[in-house]
Amino acid sequence: MVRKYVFGEPIETEAVIQNVENCTGPLTHLSQTTGKDGCPSFSCKLADEDIVYGLGEAPRGINKRGHIYESFNSDDPYHTEEKRSLYGSHNFLVISGSRHFGLFVDCGAQVTFDICYTDIDTLTIRPSVPDLKLYIIDGDSDIDIVRQFRRLIGKSYTAPFWAFGFQQSRWSYYTADDVRKVVKGYRENNIPLDAVYLDIDYMEAYKDFTVSSERFPDFEKFVSEMRSDGIHLVPIIDAGVKIEDGYDVYEEGKEKGFFCKRKDGTDFVAGVWPGRIHFPDFLSSDARRWFGDKYKTLIDAGIDGFWNDMNEPAMFYTEEGIQDAVDYLKDFDFSCNDSNKFFELGGRVGGLANRRKDYAAMYHNIDGKTVCHEKVHNLFGFNMTRAAAEAFERIAPDKKILLFSRSSYIGMHRYGGIWTGDNQSWWSHILLNIKMMPSLNMCGFLYTGADLGGFGTNCTEDLLLRWLAFGIFTPLMRNHSALGTRDQECYRFKHTDWFRGIIELRYRLIPYLYDEYIKACENDDMLFKPLGFEFPDDEMARRTEDQLFVGSSIMTAPIYEQNAAGRYVYLPEEMLFVRFKGSSACHREVLKKGIHYITASLDEVPLFIRKGRSLTLYSPASSTEKLTRTEPETFSF
Ligand code: GLC
Repeated sequence: MVRKYVFGEPIETEAVIQNVENCTGPLTHLSQTTGKDGCPSFSCKLADEDIVYGLGEAPRGINKRGHIYESFNSDDPYHTEEKRSLYGSHNFLVISGSRHFGLFVDCGAQVTFDICYTDIDTLTIRPSVPDLKLYIIDGDSDIDIVRQFRRLIGKSYTAPFWAFGFQQSRWSYYTADDVRKVVKGYRENNIPLDAVYLDIDYMEAYKDFTVSSERFPDFEKFVSEMRSDGIHLVPIIDAGVKIEDGYDVYEEGKEKGFFCKRKDGTDFVAGVWPGRIHFPDFLSSDARRWFGDKYKTLIDAGIDGFWNDMNEPAMFYTEEGIQDAVDYLKDFDFSCNDSNKFFELGGRVGGLANRRKDYAAMYHNIDGKTVCHEKVHNLFGFNMTRAAAEAFERIAPDKKILLFSRSSYIGMHRYGGIWTGDNQSWWSHILLNIKMMPSLNMCGFLYTGADLGGFGTNCTEDLLLRWLAFGIFTPLMRNHSALGTRDQECYRFKHTDWFRGIIELRYRLIPYLYDEYIKACENDDMLFKPLGFEFPDDEMARRTEDQLFVGSSIMTAPIYEQNAAGRYVYLPEEMLFVRFKGSSACHREVLKKGIHYITASLDEVPLFIRKGRSLTLYSPASSTEKLTRTEPETFSF
């Protein structure tokens, strides 16, 4: 049962697609107070046994208790424990324990979730504006609440089959020959591969919808050359449009008034990769249609996959920000006999990116109404991706196109997937990847995954192997790394055969994974479930944060610590433990309910099959188009 409460005059976010009557009765489960600023806040006491699930893309655990989170889409590459925001805002929670209910705060502005941080027993939610919708969902179980919520927000985007193949990315493969070398590296080492990503350097001067003719001569021919080798090229599209006379996207956007504005009505300017840019006003339906149609140039060249980036939107600087810093420096006492002043200086000069002051100075035109960006900040990336997806329906209605975004809000899950942004080559980020998957699934983001091997800092062979051993279960299985980091393609390391084995196992799993993924999309279900969702009466299962069910038949228990020979695993029921060496099963054993220590070396993958269920693997292939459901091997007991 879903109740909707409306506060003030909310700006429509389009997260919810079902019509729910406004409830005029008292709030259930939560108590409400109103602050001096006119904003409501909602709170409730939690019992010791209550788990708080949700918040999609957020730091910390599957159980969100013990931290304060802020939904404010942020371009921040340091996903450390103290952080409160990442790239997406997914304001959905399930409280599970002494009572069961879900809640969704539908609001495009910042919302703070103080989950037992200020008071260890209290959940408090503070929206930053007085206008919002609050949905309260009662249900019989965690999954029942999730399903009701998912019906409310509509079906998840379904990615094409090939997008379950292994994908290789790097910032950047600069030329067509660089890409050819990567494909050759994989093909010569017989490591399966389906896609190579084109990061910002494929463009001319970082101008969206251009391709450097010098570095990628005859792009269309190159795309088809890659396709004939089973490879899809996936170019990046950034939110900012370069300000450059004669550049058609800029000229058109300016002439038609499709860019975000300053208060005085002039086009808002920020600095991102291309230098000075304007942001298309994705909150305006006309601007969305216009920008979306631009993807046609690349689709016409044979492209069938895109990643939308920098759409929080990320701002490295604004002229106003630089001016503020310069003004500050004018009066600065350079003898600086004050350490506090010295640190303040660092903040003023180093803190020019993503300033709240700049977001507050940007305006949208929503159906003729001028709206300050701060009020709809979290909807920007959502609407960029929606612009693309809606255009794909017009441009290529019969083509299934891969689309995912960095920034998002609930509702965007109908248009595309997300990747979890700029993580690091840290062991702790394998664990973060594991913990985020079920939370994302709860919010409808099913086509998702992290940068495997880690984006920032240098990856090691063992880290990549262990991360891939989990990545073989995530729909988006992409190795990506940042400019200046060590080469991270699988064939660059010593044991190419180990990588081959693990990635071949992924290809053997794809038929199962894709079927389970489509089922989850159709049935408003989750592909990744915490153990507690299936074993709600088992306290040990409810507290397990590093094992997940993947679809209906299997459980994964990844190894995420360096130099570990294995790990402890909790089995909430009897299961069949299968250890794979590469893509072949090398050990099978029925293990009783309880705690077990299982071992797996770097070239091995542990897998658990649930009692009474079965997993069928087929033969691997060099790419998804060569996958056939032959040589079935079924695991069950
Ligand atoms: C951002 C993206 C990253 C990309 C880089 C350059 O940091 O998150 O994936 O490689 O920009 O485009």
